[in-house]
Amino acid sequence: MSGDKTNTGRRRFLTAATTVVGAVGVGFVLVPFVSSMQPSAKARAAGAPVRADVSKLESGQMIRVKWRGKPVWMVKRTEEMLETLPTLDGDLRDPESLQPMQPAYAQNGYRSIKPELLVTVGICTHLGCSPTYRPDVAPADLGPDWKGGFFCPCHGSTFDLAGRVYKGVPAPLNLEVPPHRYLSDNEIMIGEDGGAA
Ligand code: FES
Repeated sequence: MSGDKTNTGRRRFLTAATTVVGAVGVGFVLVPFVSSMQPSAKARAAGAPVRADVSKLESGQMIRVKWRGKPVWMVKRTEEMLETLPTLDGDLRDPESLQPMQPAYAQNGYRSIKPELLVTVGICTHLGCSPTYRPDVAPADLGPDWKGGFFCPCHGSTFDLAGRVYKGVPAPLNLEVPPHRYLSDNEIMIGEDGGAA
């Protein structure tokens, strides 16, 4: 009887000891596995928001930054450019930007938070080439009706200066407007909007 009790007690002790060792063992195994699931510092940096300084951007100029491997353009539009935008609506595929290619705060006639400053991803929505910035009006190669915009050299898609796609070109959608917010008058955080979308 007492031998039974001793054996039972010993078995309990061994079971408990094994469980503890097992738990510690699992812990040691899990830590490296969990840490291997964390994105590397490089991957985190690649997906991180990017600050852009627009203090030196002159009217009519464009600057570029890279965010998540994509070119992001910032264009400071002139008064004339802004006045031209509403006159183009009849020639555009989605003039009101009803397709979700922009956050809600950029779904307006200028597709931007501040009318003068366009922030857009510089990737053609056809097959992903990078269009060129062509603010010049009626240049010889684009014809007398060209009012300034973006031209994709790959298959000829055209976009206005709000990144809205023209009708009758291969690109199906307006250029994408990334999430962004102003940190100050001269600084924009691209890739983060504090949930404002
Ligand atoms: S990739 Fe731009 S028109 Fe085809």
